[in-house]
Amino acid sequence: MTSSVAIAPGKWAFITGGSDGLGFAFAVELARRGMNCLLIARNEDKLARAAEAVRALGVEARTLSLDLGAADAVARIEAATADLPLALAVFNAGAEASGVPFVDQPYNHWAATIQRNVLFLTEALHHFGRRLVEAGGGGLIVVGSEAAFGGVGQSGIYTATKGFALNLCEALWVELAPRGVDVVTLLFKIADTPMLRQTLARRRIPVEATGASDPAALARGTIDALGAGPIYNPDEVSPDDPVTSNAARRERVVAKSELMKFFYG
Ligand SMILES: NC(=O)c1ccc[n+]([C@@H]2O[C@H](COP(=O)([O-])OP(=O)(O)OC[C@H]3O[C@@H](n4cnc5c(N)ncnc54)[C@H](OP(=O)(O)O)[C@@H]3O)[C@@H](O)[C@H]2O)c1
Repeated sequence: MTSSVAIAPGKWAFITGGSDGLGFAFAVELARRGMNCLLIARNEDKLARAAEAVRALGVEARTLSLDLGAADAVARIEAATADLPLALAVFNAGAEASGVPFVDQPYNHWAATIQRNVLFLTEALHHFGRRLVEAGGGGLIVVGSEAAFGGVGQSGIYTATKGFALNLCEALWVELAPRGVDVVTLLFKIADTPMLRQTLARRRIPVEATGASDPAALARGTIDALGAGPIYNPDEVSPDDPVTSNAARRERVVAKSELMKFFYG
């Protein structure tokens, strides 16, 4: 179990995509640990049902109906949390499962994905990273994917945005830990979420055939990994694998960051 200051009963977490799947699993796990939750997604009915389930665990829950692709998304989340003792931000929403090759999809679709997965995420990490530093500590969880490890056909923009998030978050893990903010990125292969089930249904593939992970277990493991970043990857190939291993990535980030300290002073 984590001893991170980010997990503080009575304090608040916000969770993007908190209305279903993995995001909802994060909210449930945080509520079980006594944290109040602000759930953020677009569909208001789904949000209301999820918030009711979180309240049933004995904590407070609020909802914010918001498209994370909106230009003012960070400002809207700040306004919704200004009166709250915020300790943790979970950036979860981020799937892109069209499977359409890059040049065959209208560019607007990719622009919206980049807006949500790169531009919103970057501005939000900057804004809430500062806020948590100024508040004396907290945590940032970013849900990534094994898609971050390299480009894949029919998933170019998805893998590119996940790679961007992984690099940035590994750097933030180094920079923010001494300032009291724990950063961890969840990486994994596949999880049983409504989005996955919808995608599989298009090809009539049963979810059982995919070996999809249980979102509750992923959420628990990631929260426990706060303070032991930079990544949490339950699907690592081996502890020595330089790409997928938790320990090997930590070692690389620390060594390279020490070099940068020498380089930049
Ligand atoms: N499922 C997998 O197999 C898998 C594998 C590897 C990594 N991941 C990662 O895990 C995370 C969660 O994935 P997921 O499968 O649960 O699907 P997801 O579509 O990323 O998340 C679904 C949740 O996000 C909300 N959402 C989606 N787009 C939004 C937007 N533009 N603005 C606000 N809310 C939005 C949805 O509610 P509304 O539709 O009501 O907005 C819902 O609450 C993602 O970052 C994904 O890349 C998933």
